[in-house]
Amino acid sequence: MAELDVKNEARNSLTTRRFARVNEIIEAHGKSQSALIHILQEVQEEYRYLPEEILTYIAMAMELSPATVFGVATFYAQFSLEPKGKYVIKICDGTACHVRGSNPVNEAIRERVGLAEGKNTTDDMRFTVETVSCLGACGLAPVVMINDKVYGQMTPEAINIIIDQILEEEGEEK
Ligand code: FES
Repeated sequence: MAELDVKNEARNSLTTRRFARVNEIIEAHGKSQSALIHILQEVQEEYRYLPEEILTYIAMAMELSPATVFGVATFYAQFSLEPKGKYVIKICDGTACHVRGSNPVNEAIRERVGLAEGKNTTDDMRFTVETVSCLGACGLAPVVMINDKVYGQMTPEAINIIIDQILEEEGEEK
């Protein structure tokens, strides 16, 4: 029995350490359900996505049902339950961007980062490429967003230069 207690205690302390950052975020926002979206936003900033085990942990820590937490995480497009790369490249394919050539830019990006057909994230977890609707900067069409930075009037040549700069900063051969 005592041995079981020791094992449980060890497991609990491991869980606490593992989710230490999540606990800090929950503490900062409080455990009310209205804080859930902010908590999920911050957790996603930390991990770049919302791992399933963390969503389960958040539900337990906030005394909410897992269905509530998963429901919010899957309802809002801003949340991702899939791992994303270090650089998330969003290509706008809204009307203005589409007519001004977002497709060739999209193709150039996918080729430059080496994305296989049907995949959105590179195997090295460096790049995630997503097509989105209007990014709200139609006057700059076609528009690409890399993490929080917006790039306007993109061409395949221009986006290749930007990606090469990123790769250089990452210390990689072009
Ligand atoms: S359509 Fe691309 S920013 Fe609006």
